[in-house]
Amino acid sequence: MRRHLLSTADLSQDDAVLILDTAEEIARLAARPIKKLPTLRGRTVVNLFFEDSTRTRTSFEVAAKRLSADVINFSAKGSSVSKGESLKDTALTLEAMGADAVVVRHSASGAAYRLANAGWTTSHVVNAGDGTHEHPTQALLDAFTMRRHLGGFDGRRVTIVGDVLHSRVARSNVQLLATLGARVTLVAPPTLLPVGVANWPCEVAYDLDAVIPDSDAIMMLRVQRERMNGGFFPTQREYSRRYGLDAQRLARLPDKAIVMHPGPMVRGMEISAEVADSDRSVIVEQVANGVSVRMAVLYLLLSGNESAIGHVAPQEYPHENTESKGAAA
Ligand code: NCD
Repeated sequence: MRRHLLSTADLSQDDAVLILDTAEEIARLAARPIKKLPTLRGRTVVNLFFEDSTRTRTSFEVAAKRLSADVINFSAKGSSVSKGESLKDTALTLEAMGADAVVVRHSASGAAYRLANAGWTTSHVVNAGDGTHEHPTQALLDAFTMRRHLGGFDGRRVTIVGDVLHSRVARSNVQLLATLGARVTLVAPPTLLPVGVANWPCEVAYDLDAVIPDSDAIMMLRVQRERMNGGFFPTQREYSRRYGLDAQRLARLPDKAIVMHPGPMVRGMEISAEVADSDRSVIVEQVANGVSVRMAVLYLLLSGNESAIGHVAPQEYPHENTESKGAAA
């Protein structure tokens, strides 16, 4: 692993598999009554969120706490300072406080790179979503969920549907899934596909019904109205009719195919309530898996030891008392 996790494009197949395997190991341990590992005791993880988030922020917080790190939640929303300055000032403040890792979400694409590379901090930086650019831990938790259900990636067909233009989840997923050997097809109205998508390691299609029978996993994306400033499609109804996943379309998926969504969902828009709650949906599992995957990422970055997974051995698990001295990492 590198020093930071900024983009799935930086991950080799070995890196990605190491994270998924580590997360799998951690998930197994988390089935025990006492979920906490002593591994990051005395380390500080800062959640630096300049943009709204419910599940990602909480997920990182739970992950860091389960590794016994101290967690500081720094919600920078509403700051009147211009974004570049506020990011720098905040980084310098956190540096002075001795943060070991900074988990950053920002509305500007590239914010996580800036934080990692501008010399403002010596912390490990984890990108928790930067503008429309990348959201690597989301892609990793999606890959973790797919691997569990589909048994692997080779030749598996993943269909990603919706607002690709504004989706950092789609970008991170396309890159990671290509690295892992899956075949990805994006389905979206032409107005919601980015310029240059032809150079991405995936296929592009416009007819959802044609792609559905060939999908092992289908990932629905939210239409990101907060990042839009114009009419990208005629009406909500028209969008749902062409790109929404409803019960009829669900019925045409192959038998073992899974339905995914990174959340937050707009029920009735990109996904019907019936589909979201169906037994093909793994949406709630994605959230649970997010904690294990983020634990693995923090663990691998902060332990500074790639082979460290060997150290998350059951005997290190404190059985009665999470503060037990004998359980030190
Ligand atoms: C996504 C995000 O913030 O990029 N959500 C998430 O992290 N779970 C997708 C979205 O906002 O639609």
